[in-house]
Amino acid sequence: MPVNLQLDEHGKLRHLLTLDGLDRSILKSILDTAETFIDVGHREIKKVPLLRGRTVVNLFFEASTRTRTTFELAAKRLSADVINLSPEKMSTSKGETVLDTVRNLEAMHTDMFVVRHHLSGTAHLIASHVPAHVRIINAGDGRHAHPTQALLDMFTIRQHKGNFQQLKVAIVGDILHSRVARSQILALNILGCPEVRVAGPRTLLPTHIERMGVRVFTDMVEALNDVDVVIMLRLQYERMQGQLIPSAQEYFSLYGLTPGKLTAARSDAIVMHPGPINRGLEIDSAVADGKQSVILAQVTNGIAVRMAIMAQLMGASAATGTAQ
Ligand code: CP
Repeated sequence: MPVNLQLDEHGKLRHLLTLDGLDRSILKSILDTAETFIDVGHREIKKVPLLRGRTVVNLFFEASTRTRTTFELAAKRLSADVINLSPEKMSTSKGETVLDTVRNLEAMHTDMFVVRHHLSGTAHLIASHVPAHVRIINAGDGRHAHPTQALLDMFTIRQHKGNFQQLKVAIVGDILHSRVARSQILALNILGCPEVRVAGPRTLLPTHIERMGVRVFTDMVEALNDVDVVIMLRLQYERMQGQLIPSAQEYFSLYGLTPGKLTAARSDAIVMHPGPINRGLEIDSAVADGKQSVILAQVTNGIAVRMAIMAQLMGASAATGTAQ
């Protein structure tokens, strides 16, 4: 897919479709801008006027709690007008194509679409068909990419660990079906994390995943040894073809994060999960709700990070509070 589709002639972000091909300065700029928006969530009036008069449409063809809601809150906190559409509300259920749906919404002067779809490449497809002034954000496409999730995860890691330069990070679980893992690996590499590990049963590890610059483990405790960050992933049954794990009990026994397994990591390691979590399948409640867990902080940070992305794509300056 052409990476430069998401960059303008000056190398600035026009759309956010994938982290592949983006440089450290772009990611850092989003994380730094997000820092300036954290405070908005603590104010009595949780709004800034950066996107006043702009229209954002959330086009979610797949279920979502965190991403859809935090995008809506982010747009509202930037003072944009927001419309939320889900499959049962859209005429795609009557046979209209996704592109025709988008063209009709464009005709209503939409400025930005936030797109989630079960097919990889949908956000790219839309981005390659919209006029130059319209912005597209990929909110998760198939197994391919979930760039805003990875960016909020990087923000959360930086918040707790300061920087990426000395970190060891383990990503554990269903790597094969995970758009989140792919985007996190790209982000960690771009930001200079020296050691990214992935762990899971062989059936859930993509062939040649080591080419993404990760160390591969099938033993979870070895993978967690001395790491600073543990990222757990959900088993994505909806994307599995056939049975890839023997049983839920066996999976939890080998790859579920329990207080016992977590002792292999550094004592100050943080535990992350993009959600939704399946307690007792990939993570024990004692860990999910424990003192090392930053799972709910990830959700909170998602609002500021998505505000930063939307503001940057629309050329809005936090310093002046105006759209440029
Ligand atoms: N992390 C994530 O994408 O969650 P949702 O599916 O609830 O949006």
